[in-house]
Amino acid sequence: MPDLKRFQFPDGFLWGVATASYQIEGATEADGRKPSIWDTFCATPGKISDASSGKDACRHYEKWEEDLDLIQWLGVGSYRFSIAWPRIVPEGTGAVNQKGLDFYERLVDGLLKRGIKPNATLYHWDLPQPLEDRGGWRNRDTAKHYADYAAVVLKRLGSRLPMIATHNEPQVFVHCGYRDGAHAPGARENEKVLAEMVHHVLLSHGLGMQAIRAYAPKAEAGIVLAPAPVWPETDDPKDLAASELHWEDANDWWALPLLKGKYPEGPWQRRGKDIPTILEGDMALINQTMDFLGLNYYSPARTRASANGQGYEGVGHPKDAILADMPGWEDFPPGIENELVQFSRRYGNIPLYITENGISVKSDHVEADGQVHDPRRLHYLSGHLIHCRRAIERGVNLKGYFVWSLMDNFEWGHGYTQRFGIIHVDYQTFKRSPKDSAHWYRQAAMSNGFEAEDTPVNEGYFAKAQARV
Ligand code: GCO
Repeated sequence: MPDLKRFQFPDGFLWGVATASYQIEGATEADGRKPSIWDTFCATPGKISDASSGKDACRHYEKWEEDLDLIQWLGVGSYRFSIAWPRIVPEGTGAVNQKGLDFYERLVDGLLKRGIKPNATLYHWDLPQPLEDRGGWRNRDTAKHYADYAAVVLKRLGSRLPMIATHNEPQVFVHCGYRDGAHAPGARENEKVLAEMVHHVLLSHGLGMQAIRAYAPKAEAGIVLAPAPVWPETDDPKDLAASELHWEDANDWWALPLLKGKYPEGPWQRRGKDIPTILEGDMALINQTMDFLGLNYYSPARTRASANGQGYEGVGHPKDAILADMPGWEDFPPGIENELVQFSRRYGNIPLYITENGISVKSDHVEADGQVHDPRRLHYLSGHLIHCRRAIERGVNLKGYFVWSLMDNFEWGHGYTQRFGIIHVDYQTFKRSPKDSAHWYRQAAMSNGFEAEDTPVNEGYFAKAQARV
């Protein structure tokens, strides 16, 4: 029976918080920055639910020192942030904007001065608009422009970046941005174009890895993925087989090129037409050894066999599900354990980080006494951390965990209506207010664990919450 008094993590486990440039910085026209596809998308009526944009966001560009002090107060070991290509090479290619580099140099030096490990993501969706005008990720040249941009950043900062990810969630920015039209640039491409784009993004990852090895040789280098946390509806062999197809389509499609240097055959056989143009050397470039894989987890992808038995179909959440405020998302901690164990077993025990995990609660607000009570987030974070720890007990090489997010911020198509932060942001005054979850997470980070009494665990919990594998 697991120890129900305290959940202690292995020595050296890395506790962190995460953000992204377009979601927190604001200052979209300051110091030489030029428009990204998200500036353009937000300016297009009807795309963002509250008609907002990242123009101000959390004004982090201005308030970065205060924010670094908050991160230090949290007692975490690392801060995951992203670097905005439109600040560094505003046209996407060509001229370098020194003031853009200067901002991130101040940020990185500020983190190091405070004893916090910078964990930089080179691309978190803010593609310079001029590149989109020339085809964006549809165009194989964009991979090269990305590598040139990465080299500029890494020549200036590489020696001070202990952790670097080439990309954040390529599945999301390709599918939401270029298949579903829900994210910038709001395109709807066919499967063949999408397969080419996936390949170009993977090529850019490979070129980015080469730049990291050249200019940041001491850094831990990898990529951050948003896997589909496939969860078969039942143990019926039909549902298990269907969930295998879902896993292959959603996760093998990215993980096998990156980790094994080959695409899975199945999806092509099933779909046939969307085979990308693969040139000599491409797969070897994509399949460079990484030091870690970042996984972002929020909610399970519940799956069952299609009625016609030909494949799989998504299943809505069960009636007793605990829901987040993001449409269709659940507070379902066994899903994170399942995903970690699956990645560890399927692809070899590469070091893993949970680079994003969190819950949106729209109603978070500051009480008269200045406190922000967010019990649903306490429930979510403690439950998911318990299942991260169970994954470690089951042999997963999980090296750290980053909460999404340090602070409430611009949640893409949802604008500012969804609040993921452990720190509340007042979007009129830009005042930061730590929520109860920040105080709880601070204790966990500083003591490398937490008491069971603060969590949803009770005698019956583990009997019910068995992972699927
Ligand atoms: C993502 C992005 C974040 C989101 C967060 C909540 O994972 O989609 O990395 O930018 O804000 O996940 O949706």
